[in-house]
This record gives sequence, C-alpha cells and structure tokens, in this order.
Amino acid sequence: MAFWFNSDRERGRIFADAFARDLPDLPFIMDSMQFDPDDVRYVLTWNAPRDLDRFKNLEIVFSIGAGVDQFRIENLPPQVKLVRMVEDGIVRMMQEYVTLAVLVLHRNLQAYLAQQSEGKWQTLPARQAWQRRIGVLGLGMLGQAVIERLKPFGFPISGWSRSRREIEGVRCYHGPDTLGPFLGETDILICLLPLTDETRGILDARLFSALAPGAALVHVGRGAQLDHDALIDALDMHQLSGAVIDVTEPEPLPPEHPFWCHPKIMLTPHIASVTQPETAARSVIENIRRHRDGLDPIGLVDRNRGY
Ligand code: GLV
Repeated sequence: MAFWFNSDRERGRIFADAFARDLPDLPFIMDSMQFDPDDVRYVLTWNAPRDLDRFKNLEIVFSIGAGVDQFRIENLPPQVKLVRMVEDGIVRMMQEYVTLAVLVLHRNLQAYLAQQSEGKWQTLPARQAWQRRIGVLGLGMLGQAVIERLKPFGFPISGWSRSRREIEGVRCYHGPDTLGPFLGETDILICLLPLTDETRGILDARLFSALAPGAALVHVGRGAQLDHDALIDALDMHQLSGAVIDVTEPEPLPPEHPFWCHPKIMLTPHIASVTQPETAARSVIENIRRHRDGLDPIGLVDRNRGY
C-alpha cells in the first residue's frame, strides 16, 4: 500500500515530512522513485496522468487544486474516488483576493490609478458599503468563506447556487429560475462556480445585461465560464463598470488579447488562491484517515454533479 505524490519536488518534500510524521505506515513515493503500481492506493496530482490504468488498486485520486474540471471524472474507473482540495491555505487566499477585488471596485481604485497616471487630483463620487450589493455565484466552501470575510464591511450580500443553501445574513437564491432576480440586485458579482457543462460560458452577454446597471465582475471561477467578447462589449457600452479577472481561457492569454490593456480590467495570472503544501498535507492525511475509518473524504466529488 502506498501514496504517490505526482507533483513538484519542492512541495513533495513538505508532504513527505508530514506523511513521515503523521502517517508513517504509508510508504510515500515521489520523483522518479521506483515502485510497483499495484502498491499505489492513493495519488495526489493536478490532473489525471495518462497511464492511470496501470494502478489496479487505486482507491483515491486527490486533486492538488480546489477545481476538478481538468480530471474528466467520467474517465476515472468507477471505484476510484476523486477528492477536491479543501484546505485552509486555499480558503484564506481566496478570502484575501476577493476582498481585495471587491474593495478595488467599490473604492474606484482603477479610476484613481488612471487619474494618477495623468497627474490628476480629483475626487470621484463614493458609494457607501450599504449601497453596494454583492452577489456571490456559487455558495460552496469558498463562496461561503468569502461571504464571511465581506460581511463586516456592511455590504448587502446575496448568493446564488444550484441547490438550496441557507447562510445567515445572506439572501440566498437557488436554481436557474432565480438567476435573473439575483443578478438584478447585484452591483458586484463574484463568480466562484465550479466548471461544469452547465456553467461553461455562463458569464455571457445575457447574464451581463441582467445585472444591475453599472455592475462589476470579479471572476475567480474558471476561465471557460467567461465570454471575453461579451465582457469587453459590456464594459465598452458602460453596461458594466469594471472587472477583476484571475482566470481565463486560455491561460496565459495571447499577447494581443484586449484584456491586457483594457482600462476597466484588472488582470492577474490565476493567483487568487494557491494550494499551500503545509496545510494541504494535513488535509490529505486527515482524509486518508477518514477513508481508512470507512468515512467519506472531505471534498469528495459527486460523479453526477461533477464537483
Ligand atoms: C486553482 O485554481 C485550484 O483549482 O485550486
């Protein structure tokens, strides 16, 4: 029985130390170490390795990332469990990034930076937090964590998810029929949806036109959810006032792509939230213990939903 770490050596060392300390009975394989594929029960990887079939006794594939769309779960053998990364580092970084993005948009930072570059000292109208409605698309672990961080600012917060959720102090909507009303009362939309067939391309012209006039977008879901041309049009037609984009399709964007220098777009290279090896190792170890005790791992992907 063994654990195969299929990622970079630097993170691997941190994982190896944690496994040696907390799960010493489970052999830890990394780099080009020789091993018998029949021994491998668990693998940690960013996406499914091409030769996954050779691991006849595989029980769990742990994703290094919070997103699992890159795995194509239908191609994994039916007895193999796929587990999303649920760990404190990812949560904390996403809270930081979304708070930063919301405040950039709320406090007009993009406009002030433009004024600075023109040597212009000029006050712009400022809305108060209670006048800025935040809408969170996707109310999973990350969506809820972000909401908790934003609450103390006093923004009115609503959220939309596929299935019903209840969150204290948040107006929760669920299901496709309620998307319109949810968007209509949103001034800053935060996309934290997983990528599925239903959410591919969801951030399109129709969705933008359903948002409150002059709304802004924070996109930290997956690149393939966003229609780039529709975003540019909505910004240029003043339907939307700004966007903070961390994920794109493709990544990186080609050099001539309009997002690079659009004055209303702040673009970052998929850095909003990154798995932190120390905390991630703890969570993977905890999940192996749960699995050995006959419990479902935390972050177990539902094959029907795809996340
Ligand atoms: C990064 O995007 C992740 O899925 O963790």
